[in-house]
Amino acid sequence: MTTTLDQQPRNTTSVPIHEALARRWSPRGFDAEYVLPEEDLTALGEAARWAPSAGNRQPTRFIVAARGTESFDRILGALMGFNQAWTPRASLLIVAIAELERDGKPLRWAEYDLGQAVAHLSIEAESRGLHVRQMGGFRVDELRAAFDLAPELEPVSLVAVGKLADAEDVPEAIRERDAAPRTRRDLAELTIVRDVRAGSPRHP
Ligand SMILES: Cc1cc2nc3c(=O)[nH]c(=O)nc-3n(C[C@H](O)[C@H](O)[C@H](O)COP(=O)(O)O)c2cc1C
Repeated sequence: MTTTLDQQPRNTTSVPIHEALARRWSPRGFDAEYVLPEEDLTALGEAARWAPSAGNRQPTRFIVAARGTESFDRILGALMGFNQAWTPRASLLIVAIAELERDGKPLRWAEYDLGQAVAHLSIEAESRGLHVRQMGGFRVDELRAAFDLAPELEPVSLVAVGKLADAEDVPEAIRERDAAPRTRRDLAELTIVRDVRAGSPRHP
């Protein structure tokens, strides 16, 4: 039997949450041979497309590049640090771009809307047996130049999508990082005010 890296425990929660959220995590040990089926690729786009946005202005833009393409290599060229080590294994790289301004007016929630679209994409990926790892560690100006982006289009993050590899196929440095424990603040630390009626203790 092959071992996979997907041995991270379910995210611990005080009450059950949706399966895809409970299982979601951000690995680096992607299967370097896996090719994303066209339908999965489209489904990720659809999940992002139907995310809510302020005034339904939909400021989300993507550059989508499959491993082996020139665009994929251009994105790799802008990566920083350890991202250079693990990212080439992903099946797909997405540049998540916010349209910051339209018709001379700022779109104030553009980055918030973009983040939400990527969150929906991530959960769709998880529900399809894929994984996502996002990145802020890239040189924005280089990426902007590589794709000749207009000034109002801001590359905010990169999104690597892929399938987990068998553990023995992943270099040790990547495997070690993926095996590190994942932690979270307590729910109470997130909540500045919790003013709920007695008898509804399950509401956050
Ligand atoms: C905006 C953003 C930027 C991130 N930047 C990087 C990065 O440059 N390199 C990396 O390996 N992980 C990066 N991550 C992944 C986070 O480190 C990871 O999501 C976090 O440690 C929580 O782990 P989990 O997603 O497995 O729960 C980033 C995540 C986000 C949302």
